[in-house]
Amino acid sequence: MSIIIKTENEIEKMRVAGKLASEVLEMIEPHVVPGVSTDELNTICHDYIVNIQGTIPAPLNYRGFPKSICTSINHTVCHGIPSDKKIKSGDIINVDITVIKDGYHGDTSKMFCVGEVSPHAKRLIKITQEAMYLGIKQVKHGATLGDIGEAIQHYAESNRYSVVREFCGHGIGKNFHEDPHVLHYGKAGEGEVLEAGMIITVEPMLNLGKRHTKVLADGWTAVTKDHSLSAQWEHTVLVTKNGYEILTLRQEEKDLA
Ligand code: MF3
Ligand code: CO
Ligand code: CO
Repeated sequence: MSIIIKTENEIEKMRVAGKLASEVLEMIEPHVVPGVSTDELNTICHDYIVNIQGTIPAPLNYRGFPKSICTSINHTVCHGIPSDKKIKSGDIINVDITVIKDGYHGDTSKMFCVGEVSPHAKRLIKITQEAMYLGIKQVKHGATLGDIGEAIQHYAESNRYSVVREFCGHGIGKNFHEDPHVLHYGKAGEGEVLEAGMIITVEPMLNLGKRHTKVLADGWTAVTKDHSLSAQWEHTVLVTKNGYEILTLRQEEKDLA
């Protein structure tokens, strides 16, 4: 596969899909409280996506994934499967939403703090979000994927966190996952050159301890090998001539990015 350059018509559909995905994260926020199960979060999102938005939850049955969203708690790095497990005060949780509208995908995730969370967990969450923005700020026609990777890796490691290598960002459009692989580490100037009209995700995962992960017996849930805390944020980003457009920007971020 090679990197698909989207037409203006496709970009417009990706804007719509991206906005809808971001709205699911806005909708779920008040529900992310101590005592709620990740299955309940999954059901609320599923019903909103299908019945209110008229979109399709892309994870459901994707390569056998059994639920409509991913919920990754504490040392879970990504691809956590909603279950009857209840979240409790002090937990940190990533909710990852991908919807399909009119044949096009919008993919975005954010971290939530459940009740009172420790300062070290809050710091990990904040640095990971800043690392994502720094990666996104590298995006423009003529930049390379290595520019994104280096910006993220340098910021993460200067803050004494490690960057997960086994999972990466991706091209996105008619397909959930398209070329290229968007690594969250690397060297400036290396890797594929970005062109206006490409659409990629930037979705760094940073760990408090070592970078290594393992996938549990369910075939999906990725956790840190050393059981240290992990955080992730994700946006879907359009490459433009002079920079980028974040297609999944939430209202709360409008002054930030
Ligand atoms: N949303 C994830 C990503 O950012 C992919 C989840 S695949 C699933 O690429 F099957 F677990 F949903
Ligand atoms: Co993604
Ligand atoms: Co995602």
